[in-house]
Amino acid sequence: MPTVPFRGTTISAMALKISVIGTGYLGATHAACISSLGFEVIGIDTDASKIAALSQGKVPFYEPELEDLLSQEIASGRLTFSTDFEAIKDADVHFICVGTPQVKDGLAADMTYVRGALEAIAPIIKAGSLVVGKSTVPVGTAAALRTRLLEINPKTDLAWNPEFLREGFAVDDTLHPNRLVVGVTNDGAENILKEVYAKNLIDGVPWVRADLPTSELVKVAANSFLATKISFINAMAEICEAAGGDVTVLAKAIGYDPRIGNRFLQAGIGFGGGCLPKDIRAFMARAQELGAHQALEFLREIDSINLRARQRVIDLVRKDLSEDLVGKKVAVLGAAFKPDSDDVRDSPALDIAVQIHAAGANVVVHDPKATGPAAKRFPALTFTEDLNECLKGAEIVLHLTEWKIYRELDPVAVKGLVKSAILIDGRNMLDRSAWQAAGWHVRALGRADSR
Ligand code: UGA
Repeated sequence: MPTVPFRGTTISAMALKISVIGTGYLGATHAACISSLGFEVIGIDTDASKIAALSQGKVPFYEPELEDLLSQEIASGRLTFSTDFEAIKDADVHFICVGTPQVKDGLAADMTYVRGALEAIAPIIKAGSLVVGKSTVPVGTAAALRTRLLEINPKTDLAWNPEFLREGFAVDDTLHPNRLVVGVTNDGAENILKEVYAKNLIDGVPWVRADLPTSELVKVAANSFLATKISFINAMAEICEAAGGDVTVLAKAIGYDPRIGNRFLQAGIGFGGGCLPKDIRAFMARAQELGAHQALEFLREIDSINLRARQRVIDLVRKDLSEDLVGKKVAVLGAAFKPDSDDVRDSPALDIAVQIHAAGANVVVHDPKATGPAAKRFPALTFTEDLNECLKGAEIVLHLTEWKIYRELDPVAVKGLVKSAILIDGRNMLDRSAWQAAGWHVRALGRADSR
């Protein structure tokens, strides 16, 4: 059995035991995927109901493929869950996967859970074990946590290993990442991580060794770049509207240049979710603390362009309903921040629905998966999982999350359900000519008739 030299001791690589602290999207997926590689894994969370569900193989959110993998790994006996931190005592590697949401009173990330996790595990973990942060954190966090860990438990170490999974593709992204980034201060920590990710290394996944701050920065830089790409195309959409152009054709044309690429150039109501919006804000807040705020001033504009896209849809609705929304039925297709997810955190679709509802309209929101979480957040809105009920008698239809079922709608049949055949395609994903041919008045962001 191969051994890994580590901080004056050796660890048997094949027998590495792993703990995962925090079992949300990131932690639950990571725990199930690492278990599927053959490791013994214990998932820890302070939320007893989450742990009870996971222990029975139930994923408390919608993520394709995860529930099957979870059940399979629990059945294998390798994967267990607990609310008791003592259960991690025997583990060699501890992944911190807790959330870092935006603070309530500012732009920064709330580090309460990350610090709490470190304080909880530091005194318990055994000598020679490695703590690995995966949460998205402000640069400088890892070094500070490492200092604190070594104060409490000097025979341990801390590394950082940012995660790049996308919701909706979480399992595949975790098992087949396009790169692995490890922030370490010594070879021993890197070697342990190479054992954990041995399969990916055999598969040829690029491996990037970095120092702690660079590894933290890679994550926020990547999300800032993605956010910038989306806001760039949405800025072009505004110009297209003003100049009579078509942003979908523009995106296609510039995307053929391999230096630009055609992915993440889908113009529409912009980005939401639990990551991109809060990550760019936390990055700005951290840059301010570091005295480097000018370098990230552009992200403020990226954020504004993004939020403006939501307002542009609301303006179009007002225009189409002759400025009088009171009592008018508005059918909203989609509540999740993107398809194949039930996540409604900072969802552009839901934000638009809420604002139109506040203006007096009778808003009925359909979503195949997210009505539960959405209703919890905004109980005053009307939600349905019955598409016909949503569309029946509507004076305008808003397509706001691009679920496949909406692309499969028959425009002729839908016309028979609604009161007025007016459609706003907030994602530029519906077949405009088919809807127009069926007699619909179609508007889409960034296309000539959206002015
Ligand atoms: C994002 C990143 O893509 C992941 O790499 C990263 O690991 C993750 O955040 C994270 O930090 O944990 P995710 O939030 O799941 O992943 O969603 P994305 O697929 O990036 O989409 C974000 C938003 O951008 C969605 O609201 C989507 O509708 C919107 N979007 C995406 C567009 O408006 N246009 C596009 O062309 C692409």
